[in-house]
Amino acid sequence: MTDARRPGLFLSFEGMDGSGKTTQMRLLIDRLRAEGYDLLETAEPGGTPIGLQIRKILLDSANQELSSRAELLLYFACRAQNVDQWIRPALAEGRVVVSDRFTDSTLAYQAVGRGLGEGIVREIHRFACREVQPDLTVYLDVDREVGLARARARNQERAAAAAPDETRIDDEAAEFHDRVRAAYARLCDQEPSRIRRVDAGQSIDEVAAAIWSAVEEHIAAHSLRKATADV
Ligand code: TMP
Repeated sequence: MTDARRPGLFLSFEGMDGSGKTTQMRLLIDRLRAEGYDLLETAEPGGTPIGLQIRKILLDSANQELSSRAELLLYFACRAQNVDQWIRPALAEGRVVVSDRFTDSTLAYQAVGRGLGEGIVREIHRFACREVQPDLTVYLDVDREVGLARARARNQERAAAAAPDETRIDDEAAEFHDRVRAAYARLCDQEPSRIRRVDAGQSIDEVAAAIWSAVEEHIAAHSLRKATADV
């Protein structure tokens, strides 16, 4: 289930921790809402109430014994719930879905980072996500050191604010993050028409402009519902 065969538009954001993903997603969502699009904002892992419970297990640094295969299945359990409960219905209604991460994260972090392999991840994706794929994926490419420094600063702020601990993946060794970044680069090469690489080292405004120009091309190809259409 992808592109013009269904009315909605599915956009996802990908990037290493500290790539500015949250900021850019916010800017895009604000702009789409200002233009009147009916929008579902979601995230992986998380999204649905059940997904948020799974997210806690996945990201809690206390869960060091979580095995790679259990981790993989939990990411997909979360995503399957999101696809069934929120994403598919929203796309069927012609809404714009913006997801902070989707299966490309699993292809980078679990298939390559953890070494579980691309084949098994794609196979589980077909079952869990029922062919739902983003129409456009924005990959924010950030230098590893810049990204990790930003992620660590954010984690310290969260700890100071007594927010839930979400550092299990950020705490991985540098080699793990290098493998993940290399995997993203390969995904961009494999699917250049779906995945748009944006240099996250540019200014916030430059990054936002590059993202908007990619999104505009896709808006034109879909029959999207405007939130204000029946007012
Ligand atoms: P976030 O900080 O962007 O919310 O992402 C949570 C962490 O989970 C991040 O370190 C990336 C990781 N992750 C995976 O390892 N596999 C996945 O499939 C997803 C969606 C996220």
